[in-house]
Amino acid sequence: MFKTAAILALASCALLGAGCARQKTPTVNNSMTHIMQPQAQTIWDISSRAFNANGDGLDPTLIKPAEWVKLAKAGRQMRDRGLLLANEPHVQVVSVGETIMGETSSHGGERGEWDAASPHQVQAYIDANPKLFAERARVVAKAGQDLLDAAHRHDAKGVYAVSSNLDEVCDGCHEKFWGTDEPPPFKAAEKSGGKWIKAS
Ligand code: HEC
Repeated sequence: MFKTAAILALASCALLGAGCARQKTPTVNNSMTHIMQPQAQTIWDISSRAFNANGDGLDPTLIKPAEWVKLAKAGRQMRDRGLLLANEPHVQVVSVGETIMGETSSHGGERGEWDAASPHQVQAYIDANPKLFAERARVVAKAGQDLLDAAHRHDAKGVYAVSSNLDEVCDGCHEKFWGTDEPPPFKAAEKSGGKWIKAS
């Protein structure tokens, strides 16, 4: 496996010629769209099908053999990509041809509180605090490692611990470097005591 990867890396260097002394860390956008989002979805899908009768944990008998393998793979991929991002001194948000979610409704200059962020703004946030970014990337890497370990042990409690907390792990980085999931406050509604909902 390792050998194949090395040979592939060499082959692509030969094709690309100059400028590939070192393999490039994938962009944040690539990491989100190809690793974090699909793997998180796998984890959430498997977990939601395996809830116990009380709904407060997972029933290991409801996780199929192939699903333990999928969970282990999801954990490994999140760990590996989290570590790559954490160890990259110059994390890049996008490369040529990549667009980030919401960027068409973003504005130039400073980002307002509820504005969508542009790739440029996200890059500026990361460049201003690469240590915090690396720290948050390590948090997702740790969640990946925990999931991998739990899947190897067929430990449903361990899987639940990761899956139920994953949203916070993701948001812990998004909040600082992308935006927030919180909707804007309805100021008019607050003033009117919520009477803005028109009964028809
Ligand atoms: C270390 C920081 C970090 C962590 C951890 C992180 N993200 Fe992100 N994510 C970002 C940044 C920065 C952006 C904005 C740039 C972008 O959209 O590509 C983003 C954007 C996204 C997007 C939008 C991608 C697009 O199309 O533009 C998705 C989806 C996403 N993240 C999912 C996740 C999920 C799911 C997790 C947790 C498993 C996660 N992220 C964890 C930093 C992080």
